[in-house]
Amino acid sequence: MPTLDIPRYAVLGNPIAHSRSPEIHQAFAKQFGRRIDYSRRLVPMQGFAAVIAEMRGEHFAGANVTVPFKEDAISVAARVSERARHAGAANTLTFREDGTIDADNTDGAGLIKDLTINLGRALEGASILLVGAGGAARGVVLPLAASRPARLIVCNRSPEKAAALVALLRERGGPGIDRIECAVRPLDSNSLRELGEFDLVINSTSASLGGDALDLPVSCFSKRTLAYDMVYGNGITPFLGAARAAGAAVADGLGMLVEQAAESFSVWHALRPDTAPVITTLRASLPPL
Ligand code: ATR
Repeated sequence: MPTLDIPRYAVLGNPIAHSRSPEIHQAFAKQFGRRIDYSRRLVPMQGFAAVIAEMRGEHFAGANVTVPFKEDAISVAARVSERARHAGAANTLTFREDGTIDADNTDGAGLIKDLTINLGRALEGASILLVGAGGAARGVVLPLAASRPARLIVCNRSPEKAAALVALLRERGGPGIDRIECAVRPLDSNSLRELGEFDLVINSTSASLGGDALDLPVSCFSKRTLAYDMVYGNGITPFLGAARAAGAAVADGLGMLVEQAAESFSVWHALRPDTAPVITTLRASLPPL
């Protein structure tokens, strides 16, 4: 039974049983000799606000929010960080003593840390293809643009959603956005072929979850390319398999998961954990890449 002097956190989603967030946050807390209580909560599909009200009564200190409640997480907050507002979604809630809630989004920062620090890729001046234009893409597109790539192309099965994302980018991308070559393409190999190779191809779609391949031309990839699938735990997805066959390096979203958690941890505790040992431990429990 948690006591009031041990701060309480939870990850909220539906489904939620698969979430690795409790073990990640416990591992971080241990690095600093801190005790936290961190649980999983299955939230009924229409029940997000009610669960938040309950947690407030139970003196929770914070919550991570995952699919499909990241947009709802914005609506319960009194204060929304700029990066959450831009993403249109929040994954980190902080419960204040006055009963109000702060919403933040650490997904984009998590991806950028994984790419640049763990995977050693330079984003400035790079040529990036972002595949997908749903919530996951929206969470990362502005942080990617802020890294000042030379080219940032968004392609999607439904091209109008990619166009909306690029419009958002142009509107909110800040000074310097005009220096980035941005374009929209349908997700089909014929229209992507003329774009040549990319330094980085990021799959933000949910296609890998269903084991679906993406219609990307082999010419997107070279041995200098990193193909990054934002999902993790599925081993070599069809997207990663195609990229590897074309000579590209591959990565899944495990590093992003741990880095976004580290960023949430530092929002709550003002401490920056060491992510490398946590990534190594989790990696050992997953199918190999
Ligand atoms: P998320 O929040 O995970 O991004 P989403 O908002 O439902 O989820 O978006 C899912 C993304 O995956 C979309 O870009 C979707 O393409 P559409 O906008 O055309 O629907 C993409 N997607 C899902 N399944 C796909 C598949 N089998 N092939 C290609 N793209 C797929």
